[in-house]
Amino acid sequence: MKTKITELFGIEHPIIQGGMHHVGFAELAAAVSNAGGLGTITGLTQGTPEKLANEIARCKEMTDKPFAVNLTFLPSLTPPDYPGLIKEIIDAGVPVVETAGRNPAEYLPALKEAGIKVIHKCTSVRHSIKAQSIGCDAVSVDGFECGGHPGEDDIPNFILLPRAAEELEIPFVASGGMADGRSLVAAMALGAEGMNMGTRFIATQDAPVHQNVKEAIVNATELDTRLIMRSLTNTERVLNNEAVERLMEKEKRLGDDLKFEDILDEVAGVYPKIMHEGTMEAGAWSCGMVAGLVNDIPTVQDLINNIMSQADEIIKSRLQIF
Ligand SMILES: Cc1cc2nc3c(=O)[nH]c(=O)nc-3n(C[C@H](O)[C@H](O)[C@H](O)COP(=O)(O)O)c2cc1C
Repeated sequence: MKTKITELFGIEHPIIQGGMHHVGFAELAAAVSNAGGLGTITGLTQGTPEKLANEIARCKEMTDKPFAVNLTFLPSLTPPDYPGLIKEIIDAGVPVVETAGRNPAEYLPALKEAGIKVIHKCTSVRHSIKAQSIGCDAVSVDGFECGGHPGEDDIPNFILLPRAAEELEIPFVASGGMADGRSLVAAMALGAEGMNMGTRFIATQDAPVHQNVKEAIVNATELDTRLIMRSLTNTERVLNNEAVERLMEKEKRLGDDLKFEDILDEVAGVYPKIMHEGTMEAGAWSCGMVAGLVNDIPTVQDLINNIMSQADEIIKSRLQIF
């Protein structure tokens, strides 16, 4: 399938794997790129510029196809070495960067000068327009359904995507709630040029995370995610578990007095324990409502093949009704 996104990134299928903390390692990024999509290494997970350089090198050993690096700009008292990370991305010739969090304007000139294509993750139309105005090449529009940080506007993709299509000139992908060929065709109908998936890619054989994480997604329904940290204006959609219940009880008790320090036990440093050790009650971890549509743990290659053949079948049969 050819779209503006496949053309922009030089990929075969309009399917992107979004950056995911402690999931987006070389194994997954390479598997997605080898299957014709765009895989993404998560920059901040690697820790230092040297470790990111090492992960990019590992990915290059596993694929000769284009892949991306995610740079998430978080408010932090001790910010990561963003210039150092960007230098390694440029030196390694990574063709695409997925930015997220804060407005990436400060770092855009360096990336653009190096010929890197930048796709910025946005949860609202106004942020998408801003991304376009500062020179981003594409936008990943993340609806309220998404795993991770859906922002504070709570607009689901059935409204957000056509609104983005009305306002944007640069191409965008639909993100949040995407799982299969139905999602892809629907996303394209709503104006997107492809789709980005997070949660669905975790439940694959290639995702370098503990089997317990994959099974938790398969066993979850669309009713099992919760929104946390709203009062901190840092809303995150996570899979419910004991730690999340504890955190929500604190939110209820402390109300607007809640501080980040009050929930450190539930959110700080929990990803390695969950993703690598499989200790599922260790804390809160991002997961999308789309878990309700995930019932298997295929290889990435099979997942992408199935998405494309299901999309083809829908377009050729169900949509040929007139
Ligand atoms: C476990 C997990 C970790 C994530 N970590 C990040 C991250 O570090 N940076 C980022 O920009 N997005 C992150 N995301 C968001 C994904 O890149 C993607 O936008 C989102 O998962 C799309 O929604 P979906 O899960 O419904 O497919 C994360 C998502 C998940 C599920």
